[in-house]
Amino acid sequence: MDHFLYRDGVLHAEDVPLPEIAAEVGTPVYVYSTATLERHYRLFTEALDPLPHLVCFAVKSNGNLAVLKLLGDLGAGMDVVSAGEYLRARAAGVPGDRIVFSGVGKTRDEMRIALQGGIRQFNVESEPELRALSEVAASMGAVAPITLRVNPDVDARTHEKISTGKKDNKFGIPIGRARAVYAEAARLPGIEVVGIDVHIGSQLTDLEPFDEAYTKVAELTATLRADGHDIRRLDLGGGLGIPYTRSNEAPPLPLDYGAMVKRTVGHLGCEIEIEPGRLISGNAGVLLSSVIYVKEGQEREFLILDAAMNDLVRPSMYGAHHDILPVEEPPAGVMPQPYDVVGQVCETGDTFAKGRPLPPLAAGDLVAFRSAGAYGAVMASEYNARPLVPEVLVRGPDWAVIRARPSYEEMLKRDSLPAWL
Ligand code: LLP
Repeated sequence: MDHFLYRDGVLHAEDVPLPEIAAEVGTPVYVYSTATLERHYRLFTEALDPLPHLVCFAVKSNGNLAVLKLLGDLGAGMDVVSAGEYLRARAAGVPGDRIVFSGVGKTRDEMRIALQGGIRQFNVESEPELRALSEVAASMGAVAPITLRVNPDVDARTHEKISTGKKDNKFGIPIGRARAVYAEAARLPGIEVVGIDVHIGSQLTDLEPFDEAYTKVAELTATLRADGHDIRRLDLGGGLGIPYTRSNEAPPLPLDYGAMVKRTVGHLGCEIEIEPGRLISGNAGVLLSSVIYVKEGQEREFLILDAAMNDLVRPSMYGAHHDILPVEEPPAGVMPQPYDVVGQVCETGDTFAKGRPLPPLAAGDLVAFRSAGAYGAVMASEYNARPLVPEVLVRGPDWAVIRARPSYEEMLKRDSLPAWL
């Protein structure tokens, strides 16, 4: 079920026509659908029922406070990878005991902030991190609950930049060394072992690599229990992919994923944690943009938009495909024509799509990039001194700005001049 649909020839977000938002907030702007966020979160909890579980939304995919609050109010936990994300989750009202802290390079300061504020567990990724965490916790008179993130050496068969579970990736502890590191963890004064963590990559469109990794985690659970560790939680990471095109892709559904989780680790009596980001937020958002010019090139026609690579970097960074929809529905029978869809940034890499068939468009027309709710706004920058793209949340007929576009004055004020200038 999709909450971005044409009604009376105009693309809507739930009950709100997108031109209404464009007229009031301006473009470019991200627009999110509450109903989609809620629905995707529920798909995961339903898929894991009746196993005891916590769905920890990956804040890195969309960290807006309103989005976090909406999911947190439904009971979601959060997966954070920095003190900044941790503090966002807390500011959104999510209690510490629903927050897991992932990431390869947690600093001592970040550990302190999470220990002080309360944390469900740290997912530790190396021995030096384990020792540092023990020292920090012990110095505060605390004990840090941990899992060790193991690297199962499984090929996630996804884009190389977002594959994390192979032995040459920087993530986790080689699964073959896990027993030794768990033994060390059990001896450290500031550490309490609570489980195992694994995350093999993002945008997986096939369940088999998950199956392989989780089967290895199940075997490890038995081994570690025999070694005397109280393995009571399994954090299975995120990574389930979404369809980026309407037509040909059909990645597995959360329900299939849940069935595979039950089959591989359901018999262990562990509490299951998962860390989905993209599947919850990705198709819950569009990036709305206006055509500035249509430019006749030598061989092709360029659609020059007011959104650029600094607003949505995925096409430039990963060669990612995002469907682009005209906000005004083209009348039946209109012949599409190929456009190179580009932004305003002074780089040829600022290209969203080449030769994309679209109905004829003109300056002032609105277009919407689909599947932009995850890794969209969070990866935006002010490159070329372009104001950070704003965000809007829709709920039924209502909508609200949940991050305003900064003014040029605000942007200028952030810099300061040294005394000698
Ligand atoms: N847990 C951990 C430890 C992660 O590293 C990630 C994503 C997730 C959960 C959430 O994965 P998801 O369910 O969203 O696939 N910027 C890239 C994606 C980077 C993903 C990094 N880690 C993109 O735009 O495709």
